[in-house]
Amino acid sequence: MAAFTTRWTTLIALAVVLAILGGAAEAQLSPNFYAKSCPNLATIVRQRMAAAVQREPRMAASILRLFFHDCFVNGCDGSLLLDGTNSEKAAGPNANSARGFEVIDAIKMQVEASCRATVSCADILALATRDGVNLVGGPTWSVPLGRRDSRAAFQSLANANLPGPGSSLATLIRMFGNQGLSARDMTALSGAHTIGRSQCQFFRSRIYTETNINGTFATRRQQTCPRSGGDTNLAPLDVTTADAFDNAYYKNLVQQRGLFHSDQELFNGGSQDTLVRQYSTNPGQFNADFIAAMIKMGNLKPATGTATEIRLNCRKPN
Ligand code: HEM
Repeated sequence: MAAFTTRWTTLIALAVVLAILGGAAEAQLSPNFYAKSCPNLATIVRQRMAAAVQREPRMAASILRLFFHDCFVNGCDGSLLLDGTNSEKAAGPNANSARGFEVIDAIKMQVEASCRATVSCADILALATRDGVNLVGGPTWSVPLGRRDSRAAFQSLANANLPGPGSSLATLIRMFGNQGLSARDMTALSGAHTIGRSQCQFFRSRIYTETNINGTFATRRQQTCPRSGGDTNLAPLDVTTADAFDNAYYKNLVQQRGLFHSDQELFNGGSQDTLVRQYSTNPGQFNADFIAAMIKMGNLKPATGTATEIRLNCRKPN
């Protein structure tokens, strides 16, 4: 009996050690992850993003959206950046919509020249996102690093996990909840819609059929988004300060000037109204909550068993 118990104790101890070692493979992210292995990383990303945003301010928005679309699909693993017919790029929410991949490629090339096979594409996207936001007037924060790139893309997960612009509040809360993000995280992250552009096809039904919309605003948007045709015509997501990262998104919502049905759902007599009002008058609170939620979203991990690597070219597995 004693020998039996001892053997079980040994087995349990071994299992605990293995679990700890297994966990170490996807250890906690840390802002200092590349401090020794790639000391110029932050400078390279910052300079490249500064040049890209100077060329086109919208690029800050496009890169931020890439990060969101990467993290919601098997965690922040660079899976969105892979090319191919089964790619996430070809999924409904991304096709003819997601943009900015060339900027990530250019950063990756320079990073590879400086520190070969060291920095993941997923980490480059996380850093580029932070710098883009900050370069157009948003806050800055230190980005936890140490992500690895997936060897495959997950097209069906991209179709399943990314919310569409017609989503209800309940759907938004559920889809963010599926990723371990709270309703508060969801409302703070939606503040990303203070920058960037949308195609007419994604807000047409709102500006022609909905009643919880400011009339002047609807008429203005109808000018360049006709009832039929012009599907890809662009409009700013934030009607007041289109290219500045600020809390104007929430001020717009309070005035029923949300561009998407899903935006206005955050301020339409539901559970997020109070928070939207707070963010609309307290930019400091918005910034703090946005940063916390970005770090939380950035911590989303690939499913266990996902094959990972440090990709050399963000568009294809090694
Ligand atoms: C809450 C649910 C969300 C929905 C339904 C949604 C939907 C959309 C749609 C339909 C577009 C326009 C795409 C196009 O015209 O091609 C867009 C743009 C954008 N989204 Fe969202 N989004 C959501 C949340 C987020 C989050 C959490 C972020 C980032 C943290 C984000 C960042 C952006 C940015 C920055 C743009 C502009 C991109 C550009 O100009 O290239 N969105 N979103």
